[in-house]
Amino acid sequence: MIRIFVLSVVVYGALADPVKNFKDCGSVSGKINSLDITPCPSFPCQFPKGKDVSVTISMTANAQVTQAKTVVHGIIDGINTPFPIDQPDACQDMTCPVNNGSSVTYKNSIFVRTVFPEIRLAVKWEIKDQSGQDFICFEVPVEITG
Ligand SMILES: *[C@@H]1O[C@H](CO)[C@@H](O)[C@H](O)[C@H]1NC(C)=O
Repeated sequence: MIRIFVLSVVVYGALADPVKNFKDCGSVSGKINSLDITPCPSFPCQFPKGKDVSVTISMTANAQVTQAKTVVHGIIDGINTPFPIDQPDACQDMTCPVNNGSSVTYKNSIFVRTVFPEIRLAVKWEIKDQSGQDFICFEVPVEITG
Protein backbone atom coordinates (compact mmCIF):
# COMPACT_ATOMS: atom_id res chain seq x y z
CA MET A 1 0.00 0.00 0.00
CA ILE A 2 2.69 2.47 1.07
CA ARG A 3 4.85 1.26 -1.76
CA ILE A 4 2.16 1.98 -4.34
CA PHE A 5 1.68 5.44 -2.89
CA VAL A 6 5.39 6.25 -3.04
CA LEU A 7 5.60 4.95 -6.59
CA SER A 8 2.70 7.08 -7.78
CA VAL A 9 4.21 10.18 -6.17
CA VAL A 10 7.48 9.54 -7.98
CA VAL A 11 5.72 8.96 -11.31
CA TYR A 12 3.60 12.07 -10.86
CA GLY A 13 6.67 14.09 -10.00
CA ALA A 14 8.37 12.99 -13.19
CA LEU A 15 5.40 13.94 -15.32
CA ALA A 16 4.48 17.30 -13.89
CA ASP A 17 6.22 20.13 -12.14
CA PRO A 18 3.68 22.40 -10.51
CA VAL A 19 4.97 25.95 -10.71
CA LYS A 20 4.14 27.93 -7.60
CA ASN A 21 5.46 31.46 -7.90
CA PHE A 22 4.68 32.34 -11.48
CA LYS A 23 3.77 35.95 -12.18
CA ASP A 24 0.23 36.53 -13.41
CA CYS A 25 0.77 39.17 -16.10
CA GLY A 26 -2.83 40.21 -16.53
CA SER A 27 -5.37 37.38 -16.77
CA VAL A 28 -8.69 39.10 -17.57
CA SER A 29 -11.39 36.66 -18.70
CA GLY A 30 -9.90 33.75 -16.74
CA LYS A 31 -8.02 32.79 -13.62
CA ILE A 32 -5.12 30.33 -13.43
CA ASN A 33 -5.79 27.56 -10.90
CA SER A 34 -2.57 25.66 -11.51
CA LEU A 35 0.36 25.75 -13.87
CA ASP A 36 2.64 22.82 -14.70
CA ILE A 37 5.77 23.29 -16.76
CA THR A 38 7.94 20.26 -17.47
CA PRO A 39 10.83 20.55 -16.94
CA CYS A 40 10.75 23.32 -14.34
CA PRO A 41 11.42 21.94 -10.85
CA SER A 42 12.59 25.39 -9.72
CA PHE A 43 13.31 28.88 -11.05
CA PRO A 44 14.75 29.71 -13.43
CA CYS A 45 13.09 26.95 -15.47
CA GLN A 46 15.91 25.19 -17.32
CA PHE A 47 14.81 24.57 -20.89
CA PRO A 48 17.15 22.08 -22.62
CA LYS A 49 17.90 22.76 -26.25
CA GLY A 50 16.64 20.12 -28.67
CA LYS A 51 13.80 19.07 -26.34
CA ASP A 52 10.14 19.76 -25.87
CA VAL A 53 8.85 21.73 -22.89
CA SER A 54 5.28 21.00 -21.92
CA VAL A 55 2.87 23.50 -20.44
CA THR A 56 -0.38 22.49 -18.73
CA ILE A 57 -2.67 25.15 -17.36
CA SER A 58 -5.84 24.60 -15.40
CA MET A 59 -8.01 27.69 -15.40
CA THR A 60 -11.50 28.97 -14.74
CA ALA A 61 -13.30 31.37 -17.05
CA ASN A 62 -15.10 34.43 -15.73
CA ALA A 63 -16.58 35.23 -19.14
CA GLN A 64 -17.47 33.03 -22.09
CA VAL A 65 -14.48 32.21 -24.27
CA THR A 66 -15.43 31.11 -27.79
CA GLN A 67 -12.10 31.54 -29.59
CA ALA A 68 -8.60 31.62 -28.20
CA LYS A 69 -5.09 32.16 -29.43
CA THR A 70 -1.72 31.27 -27.90
CA VAL A 71 0.80 34.12 -27.92
CA VAL A 72 4.28 33.56 -26.47
CA HIS A 73 7.03 36.11 -26.02
CA GLY A 74 10.56 35.94 -24.76
CA ILE A 75 11.54 39.04 -22.80
CA ILE A 76 15.26 39.63 -23.11
CA ASP A 77 16.65 42.74 -21.38
CA GLY A 78 13.16 44.23 -21.32
CA ILE A 79 12.59 43.67 -25.05
CA ASN A 80 9.57 41.55 -26.05
CA THR A 81 10.44 39.10 -28.80
CA PRO A 82 7.66 36.97 -30.34
CA PHE A 83 8.22 33.24 -30.05
CA PRO A 84 6.79 31.45 -33.11
CA ILE A 85 4.09 28.94 -32.19
CA ASP A 86 3.33 26.09 -34.63
CA GLN A 87 -0.31 25.89 -33.58
CA PRO A 88 -1.59 29.26 -32.35
CA ASP A 89 -5.23 28.15 -32.14
CA ALA A 90 -5.57 27.55 -28.40
CA CYS A 91 -8.92 25.84 -28.94
CA GLN A 92 -6.90 22.90 -30.34
CA ASP A 93 -5.20 22.67 -26.93
CA MET A 94 -8.32 22.96 -24.76
CA THR A 95 -12.06 22.46 -25.22
CA CYS A 96 -13.91 25.51 -26.52
CA PRO A 97 -16.19 27.26 -25.88
CA VAL A 98 -15.40 27.73 -22.22
CA ASN A 99 -18.49 28.95 -20.40
CA ASN A 100 -18.39 31.57 -17.69
CA GLY A 101 -17.62 29.78 -14.42
CA SER A 102 -16.29 26.62 -16.11
CA SER A 103 -12.83 25.19 -15.66
CA VAL A 104 -10.73 23.92 -18.52
CA THR A 105 -7.32 22.33 -18.94
CA TYR A 106 -4.98 23.54 -21.66
CA LYS A 107 -2.00 21.44 -22.77
CA ASN A 108 0.67 22.58 -25.17
CA SER A 109 4.37 22.16 -25.75
CA ILE A 110 7.16 24.14 -27.34
CA PHE A 111 10.33 22.87 -28.93
CA VAL A 112 13.52 24.51 -27.73
CA ARG A 113 15.52 24.88 -30.91
CA THR A 114 19.20 24.02 -30.84
CA VAL A 115 20.03 27.40 -32.45
CA PHE A 116 18.71 29.28 -29.42
CA PRO A 117 21.39 31.12 -27.44
CA GLU A 118 22.06 29.87 -23.91
CA ILE A 119 20.69 32.88 -22.10
CA ARG A 120 18.36 33.84 -19.30
CA LEU A 121 15.08 35.42 -20.23
CA ALA A 122 11.50 35.71 -19.09
CA VAL A 123 8.85 33.76 -20.98
CA LYS A 124 5.46 35.43 -21.19
CA TRP A 125 2.64 33.07 -22.19
CA GLU A 126 -0.76 34.48 -23.09
CA ILE A 127 -3.99 32.88 -24.21
CA LYS A 128 -6.01 35.65 -25.81
CA ASP A 129 -9.78 35.40 -26.11
CA GLN A 130 -12.01 36.32 -29.07
CA SER A 131 -11.92 40.00 -28.14
CA GLY A 132 -8.12 40.04 -27.97
CA GLN A 133 -7.90 40.39 -24.21
CA ASP A 134 -5.99 37.95 -22.07
CA PHE A 135 -7.90 34.88 -21.00
CA ILE A 136 -4.80 34.13 -18.97
CA CYS A 137 -1.22 35.39 -18.88
CA PHE A 138 1.74 34.05 -16.93
CA GLU A 139 5.41 34.91 -16.86
CA VAL A 140 8.29 32.74 -15.64
CA PRO A 141 12.07 33.14 -15.58
CA VAL A 142 13.86 30.72 -17.92
CA GLU A 143 17.39 29.68 -18.69
CA ILE A 144 18.13 27.99 -22.01
CA THR A 145 20.66 25.24 -21.41
CA GLY A 146 22.84 23.20 -23.73
C1 LIG B 1 -19.69 35.54 -15.05
O1 LIG B 1 -20.37 34.99 -13.96
C2 LIG B 1 -20.29 35.73 -12.77
C3 LIG B 1 -20.91 34.94 -11.63
O2 LIG B 1 -22.17 34.47 -12.03
C4 LIG B 1 -20.92 37.09 -12.99
O3 LIG B 1 -20.78 37.87 -11.83
C5 LIG B 1 -20.22 37.79 -14.15
O4 LIG B 1 -20.84 39.01 -14.44
C6 LIG B 1 -20.22 36.91 -15.40
N1 LIG B 1 -19.39 37.53 -16.41
C7 LIG B 1 -19.81 37.76 -17.64
C8 LIG B 1 -18.85 38.46 -18.55
O5 LIG B 1 -20.91 37.43 -18.03
